[in-house]
Amino acid sequence: MSISLKNQSILVTGSAGFIGFHADQKLLDMGAVVIGIDNFNDYYDPGLKEDRNKILAKNPNFKLYRGDIEDLEFVRKTFQTEEIDKKCHLAAQAGVRYGIDHPHQFINSNIVGFNNVIDEAKNHDVNDFIYASSSSVYGGNDKFPAATTDQVDHPISLYAATKKSNELIAYTYHHLFGVNCTGLRFFTAYGPWGRPDMALFLFTDAIAKKQPIKVFNHGQMVRDFTYIDDIVMGIISSLEKSYPYEIFNLGYGQEVELEYFINCIENELDQKADKKYLPLQPGDVLKSLADIKYSTEKLEYKPTTPIEEGIKKFVDWYKDYYQEKDRNQK
Ligand SMILES: NC(=O)c1ccc[n+]([C@@H]2O[C@H](COP(=O)([O-])OP(=O)(O)OC[C@H]3O[C@@H](n4cnc5c(N)ncnc54)[C@H](O)[C@@H]3O)[C@@H](O)[C@H]2O)c1
Repeated sequence: MSISLKNQSILVTGSAGFIGFHADQKLLDMGAVVIGIDNFNDYYDPGLKEDRNKILAKNPNFKLYRGDIEDLEFVRKTFQTEEIDKKCHLAAQAGVRYGIDHPHQFINSNIVGFNNVIDEAKNHDVNDFIYASSSSVYGGNDKFPAATTDQVDHPISLYAATKKSNELIAYTYHHLFGVNCTGLRFFTAYGPWGRPDMALFLFTDAIAKKQPIKVFNHGQMVRDFTYIDDIVMGIISSLEKSYPYEIFNLGYGQEVELEYFINCIENELDQKADKKYLPLQPGDVLKSLADIKYSTEKLEYKPTTPIEEGIKKFVDWYKDYYQEKDRNQK
């Protein structure tokens, strides 16, 4: 059974983030009321977050609460002020490598912040709690494709450990208080308005500026890159389905070699990359590949965007966005 999201009031944390922005746009298009929360932190260019937010703010059904989910009073006030039907929790400190030098930031945002939000959702009888987990919970597993039934007890980064912790906390809130919880393990989301700390952005930016790119593990890496519209489709379906307790993989279900990925970017930019080959970074996994059978069955999740098409859409956006910025600065 699917519940219509029209006129539903949905709280989206991380609303100015890459995935939050796209999910918000889709929800607003569907006639939902979106209450966004974001602290616009400077982990990456806050200007990009502000620009995403400006687009959302044009819609009268979007309302932003600017603040930090680590601040319990702020979270409480937001839940007290707004009637919330469903909750989509996307705010987190992301970035596997960043966790090595910034452990407290991960614990504060991803554990304390997560708990503040899920606890208030419980206190206010919010129907459904959908939250972002990550493919990184599969750690160094060598079984592919990775299924949600596989063991995920050996995270190899603090980021992954926080995401696995979120799944455990969600289970407890479901068990003790009957909160409907769905965790979504995103597999390397990419697309227009994408994160400047992620490979697609870093490579495109460097190649366009004729600067060298860092290719870790000497290029021997494989990722299941998932286009943002496919990720959003999975988020929307989770909000519509309202399952008591589930965890889903949201991947494309296809492995892409790093070298091929770079090749696609070079083709779109019509420019060769200057590759600097480097060893594996601590915390990075060698491969990710999602088993999406269960998500297809329960969420009717069918990703449709192949990597070549997704990269083209990203590069087109990158050129438009940054050329426009350059023009405005002149
Ligand atoms: N992008 C991916 O490939 C990917 C993969 C797996 C999981 N995820 C998860 O999906 C979610 C969204 O990721 P994204 O790529 O959009 O990242 P993002 O960094 O673009 O978005 C996160 C947003 O949350 C906000 N935020 C962070 N900490 C906050 C806090 N304490 N209080 C209020 N706001 C806060 C940030 O300002 C940001 O706008 C995250 O939970 C991330 O861990 C993303």
